Amino acid sequence: MTLDDSPSYPTVQAVLADPTFARLKALVIETTGMAFYRDKNEDLAQILVARMIEVAVAGCDGYLELLAPGADEMDALVAELTIGETYFFRHKEQFDALRDIILPDVIERNRPLRRLRIWSAGCATGPEPYSIAIMLEREFGARIADWHVTVLGTDINQKFLGRAREGRYDQWAFRTMPEEIRAACFTKVGNQWQINQQYKRFVKFQYHNLIKSRFPSIIDNIAGFDIIICRNVIIYFSPETIEDLIPCFHESLSDGGWLVMGHAEPNQHLFRHFKTVNTPGAVLYQRVDGFHARPPAPVAAPAPVVKPPSLVLPRLTALDVGRDVTRPMVPPMIRSAKAKPPSAPARSLVKPPPPPGGEVGGGLVRIRELADCGQWDAAAAACDALLTSTPMDAWGHFYRAMIHEQVGQAEECEKALRRAIYLDRRLVLPHYHLGLFLLRRDDAIAAAKAFRNVQALLKDYPDDGLVADADKITVGQMREAVDMHLKLIGGAI
Ligand SMILES: C[S@@+](CC[C@H](N)C(=O)[O-])C[C@H]1O[C@@H](n2cnc3c(N)ncnc32)[C@H](O)[C@@H]1O
Repeated sequence: MTLDDSPSYPTVQAVLADPTFARLKALVIETTGMAFYRDKNEDLAQILVARMIEVAVAGCDGYLELLAPGADEMDALVAELTIGETYFFRHKEQFDALRDIILPDVIERNRPLRRLRIWSAGCATGPEPYSIAIMLEREFGARIADWHVTVLGTDINQKFLGRAREGRYDQWAFRTMPEEIRAACFTKVGNQWQINQQYKRFVKFQYHNLIKSRFPSIIDNIAGFDIIICRNVIIYFSPETIEDLIPCFHESLSDGGWLVMGHAEPNQHLFRHFKTVNTPGAVLYQRVDGFHARPPAPVAAPAPVVKPPSLVLPRLTALDVGRDVTRPMVPPMIRSAKAKPPSAPARSLVKPPPPPGGEVGGGLVRIRELADCGQWDAAAAACDALLTSTPMDAWGHFYRAMIHEQVGQAEECEKALRRAIYLDRRLVLPHYHLGLFLLRRDDAIAAAKAFRNVQALLKDYPDDGLVADADKITVGQMREAVDMHLKLIGGAI
């Protein structure tokens, strides 16, 4: 670019006076949920000006064009908008509650299945999920030695996720962490500290936008958690958004699972569908459906309680059941911009489960019903019955794969996904899910191949085609999700 054709950049004042500023601001809030920017015009304008200079765009109209759905610039803007303040073992009282109450409870509960799923939603650069992994390994390592453990950290900020995957931190991130733990769990690299592999092995990071990415989503691996920790994230959201999100967290927990919010977010009314457990310095919320109800663990010395595993499958909302498999089928991956999560308690909060030992079979609809009301083992039995009578049913194998995945049977999950694909290569969902599975196994090359298969299957369909009627999921949204995974993999292959 010569001096003559270099654009002249707007000032903060010019951006504030530009009529398109209001549209940019609305788009930012709609995309991130950060209603925080409603009365922070100057801050927002400063960020926009910095981005405009970076991408050499002269005004708000031009910049708005760069923010089309799926465009890289939205990620770059989000990286500047979000606030990633975090550190290891932040808010000690909550970690005490995790160590003394929550983890003993879920470990005891899950003993028969030997599986543990923990979600740190809005994990920033990773200290929160890594703190949990350190606690698990150091305090409970012997009890969960051969378990299938997942600590999933998600965030909307791709830059933060990159740093989280790296796992290298400045001294400031350890401000409240005892030095001996840091020395035991990290290795000094220059001026920084690198987390040791032993504490990394359970932890996975994944992009997820709490506002735009539908959840629970068995398809996106955001489902069936024993613990969800979402701290210092919703403080930036509007009350309406928060009201919409809490039932989604509820539905993403297994029965008996725990939700830990930031210590400054204790609006009891919002959590009315949970059991509230007060501990010294922390308020915890437990999903206790009538069916698997049990008293909360005592605060002081939690006695181990032996009970059958909680076999809850999150609602398979709008998973496409019984559809004409000659049509491309796309999962309800991402909530459409207009569609909101349920603000009323979701159906499975109140729906009674089918009688124990009830009829098994009845096809995919029945399997879905069983799964919807948390009858995970019965759903598996129904699936097996279906596959005995119709062993060539590709969807049956796909559902079986989902069930295997939820109970930590990785090998069987992969086999069932591959069988579904073998039986009908045109089904998008098994390819997509195989991609996610392989990603979790760190097989980036094979995962990329599976995602490219999804791209190829969607190739001839217009972006705005509605593919999952109830949830208004479009081909474009699915394409966007796959592109995003491929972009993330890009650096790894
Ligand atoms: C202040 S940090 C909290 C980090 C950590 N939970 C803690 O308490 O230490 C807030 C995080 O929420 C993330 N965030 C903001 N909006 C989000 C959204 N819509 N979906 C997912 N993450 C979001 C930000 O990127 C940021 O990393």
